[in-house]
Amino acid sequence: MIYPLSEDSFFLSSFVEKEIKKNKKGKILDMGAGLGIQSETCINLGFNPKNLTLTDINKEALKILRKKFPKSKVIFSDLFENISDKFDLIIFNPPYLPEDLREPEDSKINTTGGKKGGEIINKFLRQARKHLNKKGKILLLTSSLTKGIIFSDYNRKLLGTKKLFFEELYVWELRSLSCSEKNS
Ligand SMILES: C[S@@+](CC[C@H](N)C(=O)[O-])C[C@H]1O[C@@H](n2cnc3c(N)ncnc32)[C@H](O)[C@@H]1O
Repeated sequence: MIYPLSEDSFFLSSFVEKEIKKNKKGKILDMGAGLGIQSETCINLGFNPKNLTLTDINKEALKILRKKFPKSKVIFSDLFENISDKFDLIIFNPPYLPEDLREPEDSKINTTGGKKGGEIINKFLRQARKHLNKKGKILLLTSSLTKGIIFSDYNRKLLGTKKLFFEELYVWELRSLSCSEKNS
């Protein structure tokens, strides 16, 4: 199942929009691109599709993404497994919910972030630092239902919150902390 455009997709995309309106330069990674809404937002605002990389582990999604974004790199990759580049902006609307045994297997890939919800995000955060350019940043979506996220390697700023019926969504701007900043 490919993740349909949802509240969290649109909420994150509103911050991507603000970011691209400020800066159309550099290289962007759209991690777990799904139907490609975050990349579409960038391109519609004039970002060069050649500087865009989209990834997913859902092969059906990748087929659609390759058709929709012929000028961009579209890569099958479990997080950064097949990525060697560095980026100025990494966008991720991750699977962030705690495991729910009633959830069908084919939608878990989109929604379940691990037993507590934050496990995939933590793996992403551990790997992302070496894929950020010096002034690079991450736009990450999380939820009040996501537990156990470790942000300690990053300087984080909460850009916005959105209350839904059963959860609250958060969009974070993250920048990698240097070793000296971490120890101070
Ligand atoms: C919540 S959906 C977000 C989709 C889209 N970016 C959006 O904002 O609507 C999460 C996406 O991450 C992908 N995904 C899940 N685990 C992944 C992993 N380990 N590496 C890369 N992508 C992953 C899923 O296939 C899905 O497309």
